[in-house]
Amino acid sequence: MAGALTFLLIGCLLKGVLCEEFMVTLPKTIEVLKGSCVTIPCSFEIQRRFQHNLDNTCKTIWKNKDEVIFTSDNPNLITTKEMTGDLTRKNCTTTFNNLYLDHTNDYYFRLQCDNQLKWNFHDASVNIIVKADPPSPTLTPSTLEETEGTSVRLKCSAPAPCLSQPPTLTWTPGLGVSQETLQENQDKTKVMTSVLTFTASHLHHGKTISCTATYNKQDGSPSSSAHSVLTADISCELTSPLLKNTVIELIPCFACV
Ligand SMILES: *[C@@H]1O[C@H](CO)[C@@H](O)[C@H](O)[C@H]1NC(C)=O
Repeated sequence: MAGALTFLLIGCLLKGVLCEEFMVTLPKTIEVLKGSCVTIPCSFEIQRRFQHNLDNTCKTIWKNKDEVIFTSDNPNLITTKEMTGDLTRKNCTTTFNNLYLDHTNDYYFRLQCDNQLKWNFHDASVNIIVKADPPSPTLTPSTLEETEGTSVRLKCSAPAPCLSQPPTLTWTPGLGVSQETLQENQDKTKVMTSVLTFTASHLHHGKTISCTATYNKQDGSPSSSAHSVLTADISCELTSPLLKNTVIELIPCFACV
């Protein structure tokens, strides 16, 4: 009996959905570029007895430390805001436009309907960090050590917090074909990814390969960019006819031509 109770309790703590308690799901942190926008992926659960109160009188309010910041009624209170999610489907996804540095804060979601349903979701908040410069994109692998002739696959990823203006990714030099896709992280935030594929050649040895992420702004200021680099280390496979396919030595390619 006690065991079953414990199980139920743990079940409730793990999954508010089962117990239908008030609960919000938000990313912990989102880094945003000044003059750009952020879409906050947001979903929530409410107690079953309030289910019928969830109608189109409901509004989204975002607060920082109990100061009302963004409401559906007055979207221009500080900056423009767009509700993108459907509250009746428990989707509180919201876009904040044209952010300033001092918008950096922890934001809480409040649901407010013209009936008994009003709730501050204090169980989670999202930390929005507005920065003057974009983050450097992530290059994987971070080092390129290959033998000549192998097919190389490099991945470059840059956060895409503003869905209307995702970053563009550029490879220099353009060594081969690249493909860009918008992917979703586990916390539902988005990331732009470009995969570059090419065949390693001794001509690439010692070359610097860079990936640049360029972000456009909403406030009319010039776009800003950040880049990451790696140096190609391409070696040759010297095989002996006697020891077929056995690698005897790996040496930098400039030495084996
Ligand atoms: C919530 O709404 C946004 C914006 O319309 C949409 O992109 C997202 O897929 C929705 N989430 C869910 C879980 O339906």
